[in-house]
Amino acid sequence: MLRIIILVLSLAIANVVAGDNFESDELKCESNYGTNGPEFPCSGSLSTNYRCNNTFVNIVDTPFYNCSNINIFWDAPRNNLTLTIEAANYTDFKRPFAVSLSSRLGLVPVYRVYSNGEEVLIPKTEEKQSVCTSDENYQVILKFKGPPRFQLYGTFIEYEVAPVDTSTS
Ligand SMILES: *[C@@H]1O[C@H](CO)[C@@H](O)[C@H](O)[C@H]1NC(C)=O
Ligand SMILES: *[C@@H]1O[C@H](CO)[C@@H](O)[C@H](O)[C@H]1NC(C)=O
Ligand SMILES: *[C@@H]1O[C@H](CO)[C@@H](O)[C@H](O)[C@H]1NC(C)=O
Ligand SMILES: *[C@@H]1O[C@H](CO)[C@@H](O)[C@H](O)[C@H]1NC(C)=O
Repeated sequence: MLRIIILVLSLAIANVVAGDNFESDELKCESNYGTNGPEFPCSGSLSTNYRCNNTFVNIVDTPFYNCSNINIFWDAPRNNLTLTIEAANYTDFKRPFAVSLSSRLGLVPVYRVYSNGEEVLIPKTEEKQSVCTSDENYQVILKFKGPPRFQLYGTFIEYEVAPVDTSTS
């Protein structure tokens, strides 16, 4: 039930901000994002300009930076969205962290982008979570490949940030 409420809220927020894109002739590949209100500071929505082939977002610039449990509804996903995940308590302190990505409600393929530019598909696992350890820049860069045409109302980008489990390494 909560999911449905969040979905509806996300769509409402995304619709409000989507109108801005047509004012300028210049193609600005910026995204619009917002939280689902003060009660849900770590869940929200993000929309990209459908005319952009590649949109880049750094989580530092969003309200989700301080969150350890993030749920973002990517509204009408199309083309590539590259999300650089940095995390409060970790990146600035040069502390490694782990991102556990949930594939439960993710509907588009996700690639890990390494600092040498290599892109590796993150397989959907039975555990429904894929763990990515931060790279040498204390970031986890994920590329979500949306369809070229309008196909989906939205997909969820859902992940948790946690300290790296050093007990097994
Ligand atoms: C976006 O991608 C399409 C298909 O790959 C291509 O035809 C088009 O030129 C690209 N647009 C830009 C602005 O790069
Ligand atoms: C998305 O990125 C891939 C490389 O990962 C590239 O081949 C593709 O052309 C990009 N999509 C568009 C629409 O430009
Ligand atoms: C994150 O928390 C810090 C310290 O509490 C605060 O200064 C900063 O504005 C917060 N950033 C966001 C995006 O909420
Ligand atoms: C950083 O620490 C604060 C306080 O313990 C916590 O509320 C917040 O979720 C943490 N942020 C991340 C990204 O782990």
